[in-house]
Amino acid sequence: MAQRGDGGELRIGLLGHGTVGAAFAAMLPRNARRIERITGVAPVLSGVLTRTRGGSFDDLLERSDLIVELIGGLEPAREYLLSAIRAGRHVVTANKQLLSHHGEELWDAARTHGVQLRFEGAVAGVVPVIRVLQESLAGARIQRVHGIVNGTTNFILTEMARTGCSFADALSEAQRLGYAEADPSEDVDGRDAAAKMAILARLAFETPVHIDQVRYEGIERIAPDDLEYARDLGLGLKLIGTAERIGEDGISVGVYPAFLYPGHPLASVNGPFNAVTVESEEITEITMSGPGAGGPQTATAVLGDVISAMIPPASTPPATERLTLVVDVVSAFYLYLEVADEPGVLARVAHVLAGHEVSVKSVVQKGLRDQARLVMVVHPVLESRFAAAMRELETLDILRAAPRAIRVIEEEFV
Ligand SMILES: NC(=O)c1ccc[n+]([C@@H]2O[C@H](COP(=O)([O-])OP(=O)(O)OC[C@H]3O[C@@H](n4cnc5c(N)ncnc54)[C@H](OP(=O)(O)O)[C@@H]3O)[C@@H](O)[C@H]2O)c1
Repeated sequence: MAQRGDGGELRIGLLGHGTVGAAFAAMLPRNARRIERITGVAPVLSGVLTRTRGGSFDDLLERSDLIVELIGGLEPAREYLLSAIRAGRHVVTANKQLLSHHGEELWDAARTHGVQLRFEGAVAGVVPVIRVLQESLAGARIQRVHGIVNGTTNFILTEMARTGCSFADALSEAQRLGYAEADPSEDVDGRDAAAKMAILARLAFETPVHIDQVRYEGIERIAPDDLEYARDLGLGLKLIGTAERIGEDGISVGVYPAFLYPGHPLASVNGPFNAVTVESEEITEITMSGPGAGGPQTATAVLGDVISAMIPPASTPPATERLTLVVDVVSAFYLYLEVADEPGVLARVAHVLAGHEVSVKSVVQKGLRDQARLVMVVHPVLESRFAAAMRELETLDILRAAPRAIRVIEEEFV
């Protein structure tokens, strides 16, 4: 196999060209030069195998240094991966059903043959829960893992809570927007989440966990009333996967709908997003969240696994870019002013702000005897402009105390 630094190629054989496979195949050439700079090896697609395109797996294996499996299901995915591992190839997969059924067999084979089996995309899409459990938190004795690991059901429950609609209507909306498949049964009955929790429990507790050992319930029977009561009580309803230690030598792994109090880290995870919370005595609690599915999102996790397989473990790739560190950035601000309670104060403050192109998003004015408080949030602006506006505000005779400003992080998705 081509090794880092020998200037060679890493030939990748791709199994499956559906939602994730096609996104991966498109992403690979776009990132090839960057990956070559990081690893010293240029990744190239050596071939693609699908049902309709056909092709011979043995021929593809012969022409490949690494196999990416994005077929899904148990067979022939299991047989293909075992053959690749036995032939000494690193393998990458996003197949949670396969790992929750045959993970031990595959991990044993990878250990025996000294190759890597990577599967970040199998749980929570691009949210890096697998690496965090396997590497970053390897030193922690994990007590409990909670997860919202199915985006379809989280979208449906969010929609039911938001609009008061029925399960059936929310499911139709999820299908219309592409968050649910034509046959959504494995998502809504909890089985998809159960497969992911089996994998997380396996990693968290270092014990074999088969999907058949995971108890699961779905959300099909949730009524709009349940969501209404939950709202009145300030609770949110989520489909939660739980894996936890019970006593000294037990674990429990399950998936079921559960109410969460508003402060729970998973309570604010809405729509198709996924999140996983890991708890242990040493680390208290860590929550990771983000897009749990989707072609480009999952393909990004798969490509990350490919790159990891190409570089020696725990090495830091060389810094190949020379980017400029920008210090004057754009931010929204909260601004608190104590001012004289007299007419025209707000207009004078607004005039100063406008002079520096700082525009006000919202403002609250409250009297306080002969003083008044002006609390405002301004739209994102260059920090240097806002600082100049603050300096000018400080010179105004209507100010009764130094102005205070705090940055506001707005919801912003690329
Ligand atoms: N979609 C997501 O958002 C997502 C997220 C996380 C993980 N995953 C996982 O990623 C994997 C792929 O999912 P996907 O959504 O991309 O599936 P998909 O859209 O259904 O695509 C499956 C691909 O595999 C091919 N295939 C199926 N059976 C085959 C066989 N026996 N031999 C050769 N090729 C075969 C299909 O070929 P034809 O088109 O010719 O039938 C198709 O190209 C699954 O394990 C899934 O659980 C998906």
